[in-house]
Amino acid sequence: RQVAVVLGTRPEIIKLAPVINECENRGVDCLLIHTGQHYSDDLDRVFFDQLALPEPDYNLEVGSLSHGEQTGQMLAGIERILEDESPDAVVVQGDTNSTLAGALAATKLHIDVGHVEAGLRSFDREMPEEVNRLAADHISDYLFAPTEETRRYLERESVGGEVFVTGNTVVDTLYEYRDTVREKSTVLEDHGLSAGDFYLLTAHRAENVDDEESFERLLTGVARFAERTDRPVIYPIHPRASARVEEFGLEIPEPIRTIEPLEFLDFLCLESEAALTFTDSGGVQEETCILGTPCVTLRYSTERPETVHAGANCLAGLDPDDIVEAAETMIEKDGDWTVPFGDGNASKRILDVLVAADGADAEKMEA
Ligand code: UD1
Ligand code: UDP
Repeated sequence: RQVAVVLGTRPEIIKLAPVINECENRGVDCLLIHTGQHYSDDLDRVFFDQLALPEPDYNLEVGSLSHGEQTGQMLAGIERILEDESPDAVVVQGDTNSTLAGALAATKLHIDVGHVEAGLRSFDREMPEEVNRLAADHISDYLFAPTEETRRYLERESVGGEVFVTGNTVVDTLYEYRDTVREKSTVLEDHGLSAGDFYLLTAHRAENVDDEESFERLLTGVARFAERTDRPVIYPIHPRASARVEEFGLEIPEPIRTIEPLEFLDFLCLESEAALTFTDSGGVQEETCILGTPCVTLRYSTERPETVHAGANCLAGLDPDDIVEAAETMIEKDGDWTVPFGDGNASKRILDVLVAADGADAEKMEA
C-alpha cells in the first residue's frame, strides 16, 4: 500500500513528521510531495534535518504567490504526480493552501483523502485558513479529528467522510523531543535569557500583521506588559511579519527583541521556559498548553477552544489594555491543567485507518 503525504509549510512538516515515521515503522510506502509553499531554510530545511525526515520525492517549488495562483499551481502539480504514481491514499494536514490543494487534487482523481487535524473551526471566514479547513473537511474520506469537540463540529456539518478521534499529532512530536530539549538547545544562553524570566512572542497571521494598525496595537500591548513586569520579550519573527515591519517602517518597541525564526528544538526550549507566551499561531496555542506554559492569544477567535477551556490560554484580541489584562491573569497560572490533545499515539491511530482496507480494525467513530 502506498500513501502520498502532501505538505508545504513549517507546521505541516512538524505535525506530519510522526505520520511519515509511522509509515516507515510499518513498512508502508510513503510518497512525500512538498508543494514548496515554504522554501526558506529556516521555515523548511531545518525541520527536515532536525526531525530526521526523508527527502521529499517531489518538490513543486511553488513559492510565494497570491492565494489563487499559489493554490492553482499546487493543484496542477499535485494532480500530475498523483496520476503518475497512483497512490492508494493521500494525507494532508491542517489548513494551509497546500492542504486544500492536496485534498482537492486527490478527490478529483477519486483517491481517498485523509485529513489530519480535521474539524477545527474559528467560525471566522475572513481567515483564509478557515476556508481551507472547511473545504478540506468536506472533500476528505477520513477525518482525523484531534478531540471530541472537533468531532462534534464535523457531525454537526454532516461531513461525508468517516470521523476518527485520534488526538493531535503534535503531541506525538513533542513527546519524542521534549525530554532532550534542555540538553540539546543552547538558545537561552545564546540570547542571554534566564528560564522563567522572559516572554515569548510569535505573530504572523495575515489579518494581524498585514494591517499596520493591528500589528502596532499588538506590539504595544505586549511591550506594555513586558515593561511593567521588567522582563524581555523574544520574538522569532516569521518572514511575512518581518516584510511588513520593513514595509510599514514599524519601530519595534524596546522590550521586544526580534530574532530570526528558530529551529524546532530551540523554539520548544523557549516555549517550555517562557514565563508566558503571546501568539497568534495555531500550533503555538497547542504546544504551550501541552508544555505547561500559559498563553495569551492575540486574536478574537480561536479554532483551539480546548486550550481556553483547559485554562491554558486566553483570547485577548488586539487592544493593548486587553492584552495587558489577559497577561496579568495568565501569568498567575501554574500550568497544571489537563492536556486535551490526546496521548501521543495519534499517528498510530491514523496509520491503523490508512492501512486497514476498509478501516474496520481501527478505533472508529461513526460520523
Ligand atoms: C502560511 C499559511 C498559514 C500558516 C503559516 C505557517 C496559508 C493561507 N497560510 O502562512 O496558515 O500559519 O503558513 O507559518 O496557507 N515567505 C518567505 N519564505 C518562505 C515562505 C514565505 O520569505 O519560505 C514570506 C514571503 O514574503 C511570503 C510570505 O512569507 O509572501 C507569506 O508566505 P505564505 O506561504 O503565503 O503564507 P504564510 O504567512 O507563511
Ligand atoms: N516554530 C518553530 N520556530 C519558530 C516558530 C515556530 O519551530 O521560530 C514551530 C512551533 O513549534 C510550531 C510551529 O512552528 O510547531 C507553528 O508554526 P506557525 O506558527 O508558523 O504556524 P501555525 O501553527 O499558526 O499554522
